[in-house]
Amino acid sequence: MSLHTIQELVALEPILGASRGELESLQLERLRSTLQYAYANNPNYKRKFDAAQVHPNDLHSLADLARFPFTTKADLRDAYPFGFFSVPTEQVARIHASSGTTGKPTVVGYTRNDLATWGNLVARSIRAAGGRAGMKVHVAYGYGLFTGGLGAHYGAEAAGCTVIPMSGGQTEKQVQLIRDFAPDIIMVTPSYMLAILDEFNRQGIDARSTSLRIGIFGAEPWGDGMRGEIEAAFNIDACDIYGLSEVMGPGVAQEFAHTKEGPTIWEDHFIAEIIDPASGHVVAEGKQGELVFTSLTKEAMPVIRYRTRDLTRLLPGSVTAMRRMAKITGRSDDMLIVRGVNVFPSQIEELILRCQGLAPHYEIEVTRTNRLDEILIIVEARPELGENARQGEAQLLATKLKDNIGISADIRVAASGSLARSAGKATRVKDRR
Ligand code: DLL
Repeated sequence: MSLHTIQELVALEPILGASRGELESLQLERLRSTLQYAYANNPNYKRKFDAAQVHPNDLHSLADLARFPFTTKADLRDAYPFGFFSVPTEQVARIHASSGTTGKPTVVGYTRNDLATWGNLVARSIRAAGGRAGMKVHVAYGYGLFTGGLGAHYGAEAAGCTVIPMSGGQTEKQVQLIRDFAPDIIMVTPSYMLAILDEFNRQGIDARSTSLRIGIFGAEPWGDGMRGEIEAAFNIDACDIYGLSEVMGPGVAQEFAHTKEGPTIWEDHFIAEIIDPASGHVVAEGKQGELVFTSLTKEAMPVIRYRTRDLTRLLPGSVTAMRRMAKITGRSDDMLIVRGVNVFPSQIEELILRCQGLAPHYEIEVTRTNRLDEILIIVEARPELGENARQGEAQLLATKLKDNIGISADIRVAASGSLARSAGKATRVKDRR
């Protein structure tokens, strides 16, 4: 089955054919009612707007959004568990939560309408990635409070697909079901896709021989090197899906299989801004900074200028008039400062993938001795790399790190399969400072 053409996608959802002007007038109308709604129904927003001396009536154009205060993860945490809901809990149909590294989880709620909107946006995302009604979708994102599993699940149902709700983990069974149930699409974190690949290899089965044709990967940063790796290993098209619990879950933005040049933000439901994380000012068009989202249609938990801490830049629309985001470089909280140089794990990953003898399984350990940051990268050798060649690969990676990022790191090349695999989001950084 071939990709939907753009005309077919527009026939299913006319908004995908809207011009920039049409889109922006829809955004303005929806933004106006979201601000009024949040102010009237959520005491936190009322208090924040009043403190900033700004009122929903002050919004005359989309640019006026910049006058409204930000919402942060700390604001949501302070209102734990349900203080940010804008409807009575009887109207909340489902709750999800994202566990931070420390303390209480961030809790989010959805009305029935919110769940329908979410399902439709994930369905749109699946179609953009090349999915069609009638295809089988193997969901290997975790089910539960995490939005990945259930978000993908209801989206695939809304797209008219057959859902295989496998969840994360039980890697042998993943392989068995992929072979026996013959899915067309897999939705999973890219790092867990690599663990599934290991299992195919362990069983001596060619991963290219499966029925899979499309992978929809997200929930963690992954670059074009990783895309190439996964596409070649499974003979599939790999597209990026982006989202976060606070804003909705997966399906806030999705890459089109037609172009594979960064996720398109579903701008009929979300307004994206990029700000300078230090000053909070909106940066010039196309410049890198922190991604900020305002929801336009949410009922249970509208978010106004939510600071994601994800770093990226906005790009003009390609397939549609909706703008795209560049792949996420990382979260501001994941940024390592190694002797004054800012480094993201994703940059290190891209360089590892340029070393032929190294596999994309790695851990980054940061320590501090004598007030200097030291970085140790433990990276697995490809199975075919001989013991004697490891030192050469370590040297090659060290040189690339120095040349491309400007950092000196200790490199240890470990045996293939020796590092722990995760069944969901990978944790690559061990900060021991
Ligand atoms: O990870 C939602 C999701 C599930 C997205 C499945 C895609 C697929 P949270 O657990 O709240 O929600 O984590 C959100 O994950 O702020 C980013 O830092 C990161 N993230 C999500 N998608 C991507 C992506 C889900 N495609 C946080 N690329 C976000 C890079 C991503 N980072």
